[in-house]
Amino acid sequence: MHLPLPSTAITLLLATLPTSSSTPTMGFIGCSMAENTAQGYLTVDGQRMWGPYGTGGMVVQSWTTTSSPSWQLFDAQAAKYGLPSAVWVQFCIYADPGITYDEAQLLIANARQHAAPGARVYVTGQPGYEGDGVCARAGKDGPAITAGMARRVAEDEKLNVTWPGEFTLRKGEVLADGCHANVAGLEALGRQAVAFWG
Ligand SMILES: *[C@@H]1O[C@H](CO)[C@@H](O)[C@H](O)[C@H]1NC(C)=O
Repeated sequence: MHLPLPSTAITLLLATLPTSSSTPTMGFIGCSMAENTAQGYLTVDGQRMWGPYGTGGMVVQSWTTTSSPSWQLFDAQAAKYGLPSAVWVQFCIYADPGITYDEAQLLIANARQHAAPGARVYVTGQPGYEGDGVCARAGKDGPAITAGMARRVAEDEKLNVTWPGEFTLRKGEVLADGCHANVAGLEALGRQAVAFWG
């Protein structure tokens, strides 16, 4: 005998299905600005990259030591989704201490160590601000310094990383703190991420 499912059971079944059809295969590291991007990426239906996982305040120095609390958070994501086949390394800084080339290289090496063998590594700076926008915590030249570092490591062939371009927040897309994205900015960052790596 074949009983039809009551409609409440069907509703329950549908409610338990994940809204996203695929498991994300791309990890990321960075600070709240990477988190902003991951938030926006979800709102524009990005499928490849992980959602936000609590990386607020995690500037470059949070990721230079491979066993740091930040990398432990990353590993928890990798345990959930599988070792990522690609990782976005965002260089995000406080004006002081900023970032050195050695630190940039450490982030790339650590990303490789925490990802699947042969994983593709993307590098970018933190988002730039259109016009005279300044994120005081990163310093007036913070975005340009991090973007310059991303270009520099991408030119170093032995590091084998991909620079897809830089993120930009326009006027009207930034919160009063001068750094973070508002709702429109989140979506803008998400769309830029989709354009960079799908
Ligand atoms: C460079 O990275 C790509 C992934 O982007 C990987 O497939 C390739 O094996 C790497 N090359 C070397 C020499 O490690």
